[in-house]
Amino acid sequence: MCGIVGYVGSQDVLDVVLEGLRRLEYRGYDSAGVALRTDAGELAVAKKAGKLANLEKVLGEHPLPPATLGIGHTRWATHGGPTDRNAHPHLSADGKVAVIHNGIIENFASLRAECEAQGIEFASETDTEVTAHLLAAAYAEAPEGPGRLAEAMRAVCRRLEGAFTLVAAHADESDTLVGARRNSPLVVGVGDGEYFLGSDVAAFIAHTRDALELGQDQVVEIDRRRGVTVTDFAGAPAEPKAFRVDWDAAAAEKGGYPWFMLKEIAEQPQAIADTLLGRLGRYGELVLDEVRLSDDDLRVVDKVFVVACGTAYHAGLIAKYAIEHWTRLPVEVEVASEFRYRDPVLDRSTLVVVISQSGETMDTLMALRHAKEQSARVLAICNANGSTIPRESDAVLYTHAGPEVAVASTKGFLTQLVACYLVGLFLAQVRGIKYEDEISSIVADLRTLPEKVATVLEQMEPVRELGRSLADADRMLFLGRHVSFPVALEGALKLKELAYIHAEGFAAGELKHGPIAVIEEGTPVIVVVPPRARELLHGKVVSNIQEVRARGARTIVIAEEGDEDVVAYADHVIRVPRTPTLLAPVVTTVPLQVLACEIADTRGLDVDQPRNLAKSVTVE
Ligand code: F6R
Repeated sequence: MCGIVGYVGSQDVLDVVLEGLRRLEYRGYDSAGVALRTDAGELAVAKKAGKLANLEKVLGEHPLPPATLGIGHTRWATHGGPTDRNAHPHLSADGKVAVIHNGIIENFASLRAECEAQGIEFASETDTEVTAHLLAAAYAEAPEGPGRLAEAMRAVCRRLEGAFTLVAAHADESDTLVGARRNSPLVVGVGDGEYFLGSDVAAFIAHTRDALELGQDQVVEIDRRRGVTVTDFAGAPAEPKAFRVDWDAAAAEKGGYPWFMLKEIAEQPQAIADTLLGRLGRYGELVLDEVRLSDDDLRVVDKVFVVACGTAYHAGLIAKYAIEHWTRLPVEVEVASEFRYRDPVLDRSTLVVVISQSGETMDTLMALRHAKEQSARVLAICNANGSTIPRESDAVLYTHAGPEVAVASTKGFLTQLVACYLVGLFLAQVRGIKYEDEISSIVADLRTLPEKVATVLEQMEPVRELGRSLADADRMLFLGRHVSFPVALEGALKLKELAYIHAEGFAAGELKHGPIAVIEEGTPVIVVVPPRARELLHGKVVSNIQEVRARGARTIVIAEEGDEDVVAYADHVIRVPRTPTLLAPVVTTVPLQVLACEIADTRGLDVDQPRNLAKSVTVE
């Protein structure tokens, strides 16, 4: 989820591009770069790993010449670590084309091989660079005259698979920039004789509020004299949707939402889709991002530990059900701060899966180091490319959630779940355990998750209303069985950290062994109900709802569409789409996130930065 800005106009190009990047830095901050088309007809590039300030320092020391147009990028690494070389823009081999990209080009490996076969040497490990080389070749073949760069872009886009927003400049084009999009956003800003491209409106809000939204699979040309021209990838003219931005600059960064957390909740369908992208071919093609382990190393694994903290730990608890079921390997899950102090039994045949959104959590890092000292193999699930945890692990699967700004993890969690499923399937694949039918149907079900989460999000108004009515509660219980038990823990954690309401999650069956004593008239109890297809499990949870209702609880039930068995015992029913049991946490967690957020907001609290908490906990 990188930030993209492009500018054609008569203001100081570098100033405009850097201003846009500053406002987009929340989208990615592991490197930044700019390319300007200079008055001398060349492309001048500056790029630097780290925050935008690092790039600004370089530009201060080595100023770029005056320019007629420019592009800029803040990166959140997916392919290739966060280094100077991998920072965008990327140049074609002849130095004539500069490209910036947001997204993942799924077929980059075959395109790269094709370019290399033609003698092109690559300067980075990114999936993006290939587009610069392809664009240079396509430009050379496109008819001369107006629209040449757009024609080249269309030709390249027709060959790309995956998700991408691309913006490109060519040294021979003094007035023109082109952009393209598929499954990734691109908006155009229309000023007075000047035009902007941005991954979102924050890129140009300081200059214009008139914007155009590009449709799927469209190419746009912005030209100082000819204005804006939009076509589809085949070249047929298209009409972009015009809109006026009425947010202030701060709201623009939050996509118009009052809180980053709400924006991040809304981004979950895309984050899940991006995390699945390129990893779900036919069964048998699952790949990790970085593997310093051989298949043989993985074949001898006889035990799996999952180690993490907080929300990531809850993802681990759910992973246990999936990994054990698919691989028949025993899985233990432990909070990182406890793991190493109890001397766990580890050796070369133990696989330790560490999960961390930030990749910098000290407890998790120390657990990882302890595991490695005991010769265990470590596989990291992480959202921050190049952070310490993946660097020190033997294998990595990156979640592609993009930066999470709100302290409470939301899209980080759902993408961790998806990554855990992928690890489970990957282990099953490597170890040759194939329940072909079940696995291929799980792969198909994974693909439906983005749409299902989007459906849940469309139905959140009653949940927000419910949240407002719960704002005065002094405690709440969350219940679930099987994979819904960790979902209950996660729901309780979200409520505690955001709304400062004492909340606890329980395995629904444990209630009668003690906790049921705390229920009084009106105590809100949230119950996450398993799919009806799991008859026995489902029946037991319905009984648990009755038990708490009989003690006066106000019952809030999360149940799948069509589950009428719960209605008689529920004060409120929140519906989610039908989803297979093991994958259900991806959909059932979402209303709990929204609920916690709404309750906190109603209580007048800072949803994005709850008291006493930090986004990345780098102390033990
Ligand atoms: C809760 C939350 C924390 C983190 C935990 C681990 O909403 O965000 O519980 O999950 O601090 O952080 P990472 O995943 O960065 O290791």
